[in-house]
Amino acid sequence: MQATVSPTPIPTPTHAPAAIAQSDAVRAFWSEDPEYRDLLLNLINIHVVSELYGGDCFERSILRAPTAEFKLRMARTVMEEYGHHLRYRKLMEDLGVDWQEYARKKGHLSTFDTPMESWADQAVFLAIVDRAAAHQFRHFVQCRYEPFRIAAQETLKEEYGHVGLGMDAVKHLLQTPEGRAEVEAAVRKWLPVGLQSFGADKSAKNERYRHWGIKQDTNENMRAIYWQQVRAFITEDWDIALPEDFREVWSPQTNPDDDVERAY
Ligand SMILES: [Fe+2]
Ligand SMILES: [Fe+2]
Repeated sequence: MQATVSPTPIPTPTHAPAAIAQSDAVRAFWSEDPEYRDLLLNLINIHVVSELYGGDCFERSILRAPTAEFKLRMARTVMEEYGHHLRYRKLMEDLGVDWQEYARKKGHLSTFDTPMESWADQAVFLAIVDRAAAHQFRHFVQCRYEPFRIAAQETLKEEYGHVGLGMDAVKHLLQTPEGRAEVEAAVRKWLPVGLQSFGADKSAKNERYRHWGIKQDTNENMRAIYWQQVRAFITEDWDIALPEDFREVWSPQTNPDDDVERAY
């Protein structure tokens, strides 16, 4: 898919540590346990692959946005998604790893398997699925590999902006009965995607992430916290009824290994 990009180059994010400090961090990384290195490289690679794919999926939403203001904010969001791809690619380059070789081994996150078909889709996706990504990043900002931690902090800030755009776009749509109907349909479409993105219950991989301090909570706990948060504003602010229990809108995967390649 060919994406439209601004003629101005996407700014390469600046990494806080000076070159020498950064190479210390890189050296320290390569003296870590191989399992830790693999898990972190896997996480970085997820973002190299999926941020680029996500940018492509979002690109058509710029023209679908209903006003110039929303087009501008959507264009900025697309630019930032490509920026995220470049940011994680740089982490791999700094580690001396061939990002293209890694990227070939990995599919994009399963969140992007569901097609983005309308502005309401995009609005609700940003409000609830980008929010799920932000929940992941709140863990990554505590990672002990400093360049990844800094990249995650910068990304988290931008993901909050994407969530804010989604919330504003939904509010705008809810002003008309047609818009409300579209939002309701999009909520049913994207809630399962958001819930699924946390990965399987009792995930062995999550246990290893927690062992190495890359995540601080289980997939099931993160999902429960997420559900509580999205359910509150969808029912109270958007006035869309939802069951108490998320299992009524999404069934957990039966195979805990399902998430190994396509979820966090
Ligand atoms: Fe992103
Ligand atoms: Fe985003």
